[in-house]
Amino acid sequence: MNSKNTKVKDDFIDTGHGCILYLENITVSFDGFKALDDLNLYIDDGELRCIIGPNGAGKTTMMDVITGKTRPDKGTAFFGQFLDLTQMTEYEISHAGIGRKFQKPTVFKNHTVFENLELALHTNKDIWTSLFRCLTEEQKETINETLKTIGLMEYSKTRAGLLSHGQTQWLEIGMLLVQDPRLLLIDEPVAGMTHQETEQTAELLSSLAGKHSVVVVEHEMDFIRSIANKVTVLHEGHVLAEGSMEDVQNDPNVIEVYLGS
Ligand SMILES: Nc1ncnc2c1ncn2[C@@H]1O[C@H](COP(=O)(O)OP(=O)(O)O)[C@@H](O)[C@H]1O
Ligand SMILES: [Mg+2]
Repeated sequence: MNSKNTKVKDDFIDTGHGCILYLENITVSFDGFKALDDLNLYIDDGELRCIIGPNGAGKTTMMDVITGKTRPDKGTAFFGQFLDLTQMTEYEISHAGIGRKFQKPTVFKNHTVFENLELALHTNKDIWTSLFRCLTEEQKETINETLKTIGLMEYSKTRAGLLSHGQTQWLEIGMLLVQDPRLLLIDEPVAGMTHQETEQTAELLSSLAGKHSVVVVEHEMDFIRSIANKVTVLHEGHVLAEGSMEDVQNDPNVIEVYLGS
C-alpha cells in the first residue's frame, strides 16, 4: 500500500460504482475454527446498515477485518474501488476515513464535552498541544455542528465524567464525527441505555445516513426495527439473510436460528 494514497482521503475513495465497502469471500480461522466463512457484504455509499446475529456469529470479527485488526485468510476487502483494506495498517485505514466505536467509552472524563471533541479533532497531537492550540473558525463550527447532531449542545462545558451512560456514548460518536469519517462502524451502541436514550440513539444514527455510511451491530430488536432500512443477519460466519426487517423476520432460517430462540 502506498501510504500517500490514504492521505488524499475523499478524492481517493472512488464510490463510482455505488458501494463504499466490499467484502467478498472473507474467511477468518482461529485454530481451524471459521469465525467468518465465505462472507460477502456490500455497503452502499451513505447507507445505514444493521447487522444482527446470535453471539459468536462473527459480527465483531467482521469489524476487525474492516479495520485491519484481523487479517482474513481468504477473500477481498475494499474501501471504495481502490483501497485494499487487507494491505493497509489499522492507522492507514482509520486515516482513510473508517471510524470505529467500541463499546467501552474512551472519553477524557476530566475534560469538558467541548474539549473532548476538540481533542478528537487534533487526534494526532498530544493532549496539551491540542488544548492550547487555537481553533480555527471552521473547526469551531465543526465542533458546534457535532454538538447539535449528538444532542449535547447544552452540555458543552460539562465535564465528560458527569454525563449519563447514554450521553457518554453520544459524545464518543461525536468524537468520531468530527473527523468526518466516510464509514462508521458501531458495535452495540444501545447496550445499557434507558429506553429514552435508545430512542434518541436511533434518531441520531438515522440522521447520519446520507452524510456517512454507517454499519451498526446490535442485539436490541426494537432499536433495529426503529432504524433499519436494510438488515443483514449473520450466522456461523456468513450471511444467512438480508433485506428489510420484515423480510428477515419472516425468513424461516432466521426464525430458526435467531429470532425464535
Ligand atoms: N481471537 C480469537 N481467537 C479465537 N477465537 C475467536 C477469536 N475471536 C473470535 N473468536 C471466535 O469466533 C467466533 C465469532 O466471534 P465474534 O466475531 O466475537 O462474534 P459476535 O461478535 O457475533 O458475537 C466466536 O466463536 C468466537 O469465540
Ligand atoms: Mg461481538
